[in-house]
Amino acid sequence: MVANSVVSLNSVSARAGIVGTLESDALVIGVAQGSDGPVLLEHPLAEQEAVALSDSLQILGVSGAADEVRRLPALSKMKASVLVLIGLGKLDDGAPALEALRRAAGSAVRQLAGLEHVALALPASGVAELAAIAEGAALGSYSYQARRSDPTAVKPAVQKVSVLTSVNAKAAKTVLDRATAVGKAVNTTRTLVNEPPNLLYPETFAQAAKELSKGLPIKVTVLDEKRLEKDGYGGIIGVGKGSSRQPRLVKLEYSPVRAKKHLALVGKGITFDSGGLSLKPATGMMTMKCDMAGAAAILTATVAAAELGVPTKLTAWLCIAENMPSGTAGRPSDVITIFGGKTVEVLNTDAEGRLVMADGLAAGSAEQPDVILDVATLTGAQMIALGNRYAGVMGDEAVSTAIAAAAAATGELFWRMPLPEELRPSLDSPVADLANIGERMGGMMTAAVFLREFVGEGKNGEQIPWAHLDIAGPSFNESAPYGYTPKNGTGMSVRTLLSYIESLGH
Ligand code: BES
Ligand code: MN
Ligand code: ZN
Repeated sequence: MVANSVVSLNSVSARAGIVGTLESDALVIGVAQGSDGPVLLEHPLAEQEAVALSDSLQILGVSGAADEVRRLPALSKMKASVLVLIGLGKLDDGAPALEALRRAAGSAVRQLAGLEHVALALPASGVAELAAIAEGAALGSYSYQARRSDPTAVKPAVQKVSVLTSVNAKAAKTVLDRATAVGKAVNTTRTLVNEPPNLLYPETFAQAAKELSKGLPIKVTVLDEKRLEKDGYGGIIGVGKGSSRQPRLVKLEYSPVRAKKHLALVGKGITFDSGGLSLKPATGMMTMKCDMAGAAAILTATVAAAELGVPTKLTAWLCIAENMPSGTAGRPSDVITIFGGKTVEVLNTDAEGRLVMADGLAAGSAEQPDVILDVATLTGAQMIALGNRYAGVMGDEAVSTAIAAAAAATGELFWRMPLPEELRPSLDSPVADLANIGERMGGMMTAAVFLREFVGEGKNGEQIPWAHLDIAGPSFNESAPYGYTPKNGTGMSVRTLLSYIESLGH
């Protein structure tokens, strides 16, 4: 169900004269917005042709703005069918930033969907630049078309990308292999999110986790509703019991022999969030198939880490349920018992994410990993605080800082937010250990303070280092596509997770 074609990436030596021999459907070069108008970036064109092209940019109406794509006839002696200009926007000091390259490569490949083979001649002199371009290309090569009766209704994503580079072949291969794995992970997350919730529900999501782990050194354990009930996962059961589709907890274990650290990942996997009896209004439900984006991200990041053989032990907990109203649904004011024994008064059944995550955090903590990360489309308040493109990261100083650094390096937008102490009493309940809703102002942080209560103690008797990633807004793009980001499922957090997992292996 999650079959995903992966763009094939190869590197081509950017030697002089390459343009005359490299066959492709399009050769892409970059244009930046200079202070005196558009400027061509480093390119492999012959001197005379470059001058002629450069002189006509303004008259062609090319500005070099980010995402601007212009198809031109191929120049003489070119083995590409067309020449394509892609805008990079304004440059800081001459050389484009890595994220500008990543976005330009992604934007070009995305907008050239329908072509088969694209050659990218963007400035790729170093390993970091090549990595950014290759990754952008892999992220731009995405189209969701699994559910159309007419398969030609959507242009297929670009199948093959050749990146011109002066990086040597051996170093380039390592870089391209990683970019391929990253692209596959992000694109698979996008597809899981885009799948309609009548087809992707707890049982089929658990199956997808098994399929994606096939052939890899990952042990997959699926706990069904009977087992969840028996083992005391009251959060997942409590949220899932209103649906005819029974909940699941999927545990993935990747234990490489040379592992330096053990990281637990917990993901919110609500395959559809209607709000339950605290029903959402119709408009609020329209995007709620995206409420499993956190679980999808930890799944594909774990798969990618295993594919790349990253020496970090991973345990991923996918907390999967469908939140529906019915005669069997949980009621506002029910008290449930989370894994490990803490009780929660459910005052609002639409604050369900924190209940399934509480089970996952408690179960994950019981193994005393070195670090715990949780990823969830947890609150609407996340979007009120940070908008649609930035995700929030909250938690321990060291872990949050490391996540922010990993995010900055990959081009994902994460912003650190505090865990204000004064929010904790707002979660007090007269009948249980905690209530599932508290202070509305700063609701993203209130939810994080709730989750912190379920992070257990490590081997040293102190709370396990933990960070919480709220990706409610940026995991689903309701606006127009931009850069390498498509409409709808975006795959947010996968790249940051993988980069953080790699940093623990060093
Ligand atoms: N899944 C939603 C959060 C959400 C909203 C994600 C919009 C993506 C886009 C979550 O389960 C929810 O409903 N949260 C409530 C919490 C409230 C009842 C305390 C919210 O944010 O309104
Ligand atoms: Mn909800
Ligand atoms: Zn939700």
